[in-house]
Amino acid sequence: MIFYFSGTGNSYCVAKEVAEKTKDQIISIAEAWQNKEFSYAVAEGEKIGFVYPIHAWAPPTIVLRFIKKLQLTNSYDAYTYSILTCGDDWEGAVEKIKRALAHIGLPLQGDFKIIMPDCYVIGGDVNNPEEAKKKLDASKETIQRVIKDIIANKFTYRPIKYSFYKSHVIYRFFQTSKIIPLFKANDQCVGCGLCAKACPMNVIKLKDKRSKNHKVPKWGKGCVQCNACINVCPAKAIDYLGAKEKEIRYFNPDYRKELVRKN
Ligand SMILES: Cc1cc2nc3c(=O)[nH]c(=O)nc-3n(C[C@H](O)[C@H](O)[C@H](O)COP(=O)(O)O)c2cc1C
Ligand code: SF4
Ligand code: SF4
Repeated sequence: MIFYFSGTGNSYCVAKEVAEKTKDQIISIAEAWQNKEFSYAVAEGEKIGFVYPIHAWAPPTIVLRFIKKLQLTNSYDAYTYSILTCGDDWEGAVEKIKRALAHIGLPLQGDFKIIMPDCYVIGGDVNNPEEAKKKLDASKETIQRVIKDIIANKFTYRPIKYSFYKSHVIYRFFQTSKIIPLFKANDQCVGCGLCAKACPMNVIKLKDKRSKNHKVPKWGKGCVQCNACINVCPAKAIDYLGAKEKEIRYFNPDYRKELVRKN
C-alpha cells in the first residue's frame, strides 16, 4: 500500500506510477485524515510506501501526524520506503519521516528523492515553464530507477547531517503562518471550480456571488498551504500575500488533466 499526500500533483503522479508498476494500491492521506481512517491490514509480501512533497525542508505536518496515528496489522516484515518530491532541497525531511515511522514500530528501509518542479508560489518563485519541463522530463527516468529499487526491496536509507535551522526553526515558523487564512479570489474569477477540486483538504466551497451562474470560492479552516488552489487557477485570480502579482504558476500537467475531467 502506498500512502500519499499531494497538492499540485507531483507526488500523486509519482505514487500512481509506482503503484502501477508494483501492482499496488494508493491511499490519499488527505482523504484518510478527513474520514479518520487509520487502520489498515498489510497483506503477505506487501510493501508500505509514503510519497509526499517537501514543505519548508520537512514533510507536510499532516503526513507526520497521519503516520503517528496509523494502525497497521501484519506489518512487521514489510519493506517500508519513503519517496519525497521537492524543488531541490529536503534537508532533514527523511529524518523526520524516520522518527514518525519509529513511533509506530516501522523501520525506514528505502529512501528516495525525486526533484520535480517547484510549486511554492506564496513564498517564492516557481520554476518557469522551460525549467519545469526539464525537471519533469528528468524525473521520469529517476522514477523508473526508484521503482526498480523498490521492486528489489533495496535498503537505501543512510542518516545524513542537515540544517536544524531550516528543518526545525523555519519549519515551526511556517506552521504558525498557516493559521491566518488570507486567500482571496478577485473579479477575474470565472467560477470554474478547479480550485475547489484541487484542494486536498476540501476546505474550498463555491458560493453564489451575483447569481447562481457566478460562483466564487470561499476558504474554510484546515488549509495546509499546499499552494494547489493558487497554482491551478486558470485566471490567476487567487491572491495570498501578493501571490497574484507573480506571473508564473506550476501545476502538474497530468494531474490537471485528471482534475478537469473529474465531476
Ligand atoms: C509550502 C511549500 C513549501 C515548500 N518548501 C520546499 C522546500 O523547502 N524545498 C524544496 O525543495 N521544495 C519545496 N517546495 C516545493 C515542493 O516540495 C515541490 O514542488 C513538490 O514536488 C510539490 O509536490 P506536490 O505537487 O505533490 O504537492 C515547497 C512547496 C510548498 C507548497
Ligand atoms: S486551500 Fe490550502 S490546502 Fe486547499 S488547495 Fe489551497 S493551499 Fe492547498
Ligand atoms: S480556479 Fe480560479 S477561476 Fe476557477 S473558481 Fe477558483 S478562483 Fe475562480
